[in-house]
Amino acid sequence: MCGIVAAVAERQVGPILLEGLRRLEYRGYDSAGVALLDEEQGLASARAVGKVAALAEKLEATPITGQLGIAHTRWATHGVPVERNAHPHLAPNCEHGRVAVVHNGIIENFATLKAELVDSGCTFASDTDTEVIAHLIHHQLGLGLSPEAAFHAAVDRLQGAFALAVIITDAPETLFVARQGSPLVIGVGIGEHFAASDALALLPVTQSFIYLEEGDRAVITREVLAITDAASNPVERPVRQSAQRAESADRGQFRHFMLKEIHEQPQAIADTLEGRIAHGHILPAAFGVGADEIFASVERVQIIACGTSYHAGMVARYWFEDILRLPCAVEVASEFHYRNPVVSPNTLIVALSQSGETADTLAAIRMLKREDPKRPVLAICNAPESSLVRESDLVLMTRAGPEISVASTKAFSTQLVSLALLLLAIGRASGRMEEAEEQRIVAGLEKVPGRIQDALDHGDRVRELAELLVEKEHALFLGRGPMYPIAMEGALKLKEISYIHAEAYPAGELKHGPLALIDETMPVITIAPQNELLDKLKSNIAEVTARGAELFVFADERAGLHSADFTHVLPVTSHVGRISAPIIFNIPLQLLAYHVAVLKGTDVDQPRNLAKSVTVE
Ligand code: G6P
Repeated sequence: MCGIVAAVAERQVGPILLEGLRRLEYRGYDSAGVALLDEEQGLASARAVGKVAALAEKLEATPITGQLGIAHTRWATHGVPVERNAHPHLAPNCEHGRVAVVHNGIIENFATLKAELVDSGCTFASDTDTEVIAHLIHHQLGLGLSPEAAFHAAVDRLQGAFALAVIITDAPETLFVARQGSPLVIGVGIGEHFAASDALALLPVTQSFIYLEEGDRAVITREVLAITDAASNPVERPVRQSAQRAESADRGQFRHFMLKEIHEQPQAIADTLEGRIAHGHILPAAFGVGADEIFASVERVQIIACGTSYHAGMVARYWFEDILRLPCAVEVASEFHYRNPVVSPNTLIVALSQSGETADTLAAIRMLKREDPKRPVLAICNAPESSLVRESDLVLMTRAGPEISVASTKAFSTQLVSLALLLLAIGRASGRMEEAEEQRIVAGLEKVPGRIQDALDHGDRVRELAELLVEKEHALFLGRGPMYPIAMEGALKLKEISYIHAEAYPAGELKHGPLALIDETMPVITIAPQNELLDKLKSNIAEVTARGAELFVFADERAGLHSADFTHVLPVTSHVGRISAPIIFNIPLQLLAYHVAVLKGTDVDQPRNLAKSVTVE
């Protein structure tokens, strides 16, 4: 949700910032901008509506230079996506301002601050909350404060969630940054420093990173980095080496990141399983020290997540209750947080998040921790340095690698595998699972990467089916049991990237409403694994075909379903167990959404109005 990149170096930083923005574009792409401070030419900025490419074109036509710079790619919250609302925001509002600011997050008290600033004579050029920060700093400078003191005095007044990078022309070799509720990382180079909202942006220039903590601020020059914590005390934060490679943000041979990430799933799942299962068992260390003790006394599981991660949690609920007989509730974080939920003792809280920075998910676990600091929170997450990981008691990393496409694919599959590992770990520690069952599930999980590969091999056939959907305005997805959340995920993928209105229903609910929508204009997409619900699903299928719907079925080879006029059956897999089935059957639905979007010509990796990491509530 908005991307920041900043640099202070001896060399020209413009190209580094632009490359960083390209790598951060998945966080927001309404507009982009850059401000550079050049020793001789002073502060200059450029902004453009739309993608980073539009900004790059503008800079090519009218280059600006500098060894100190800040840049931003925006996902609009306050103010429509037009150039005057794009970051950086300058104060005063003239071509060569004295202060330039880029900001992620939301300043909750911006209206109060703005009113004060307007009273003291400031004029505003944008509708954003961010602009108040630039004016606040400028105002403090006007009172005679040093640049550093003005920065701190202004940040002290901000309420809300933010990550900031600031240039003050009075300190032409200094970059000021702050982190409170929005991620920010500092990149350490040789005689140069960088900052960004995601380390991915800086991989071409450094592998050494300092992850700022909540409330940290830093005053950064080429050689010196001074960090203060939330209590204004100077602190040292460790420098960590990233194992990620610069090319992990490249599309490689694939046309879109989404397709690349769909195809990375066999490897991502193999990585997630590595070192966690062996000889038919879950390894005791998989969830870290102290996990077994917590798992042994668990009486309930409460899963909290948003978006695609929520759907992974929904699948796990079927597993936990069916296989372990362990009560499990799943809720979207934004609802859970605000409905004053009752959480009984011995409940294990599981927060599921690809990014570990989703504001609603973080707010929900913080609320639970405030209520009872001893209540155990397990994070299943894909970002090792994220806020969620840092604030949780137990952690299982999903190891999907960087996921760039806004529509989540490999993160979802690895979350499902991670939840299956949790099922095994709780089963073992609490004695709720027989050893033979554990061995059977482990053996099934080991086969998942190969089976996904087989499902991916149906890509051409899925593309043919996509051609039949491309002109449709609506679609209905049906599933039963753990396939119901998979139907929800399939519908979400389709609506996210192709903008076709899609909804998912448990197939048994069809006759309680959605059947009224069925006619030849309403395609119905369903998943038919070979299980005890297959016959019931077949009855539901008959109900929709009888009413003229065009039917698309992703089926087990043994399901006994065959294509006919307006019924398209694609056998996807065979002999998959109840843990593997949702993971495998999800693959053709990912491919279906992808191909429909490509045929419609939408922006697959960066669908309109969405962002990869939603760091505002
Ligand atoms: C956004 C993304 C989704 C993602 C959701 C939750 O809406 O576009 O793909 O599923 O956030 O994100 P998280 O990082 O917490 O899994």
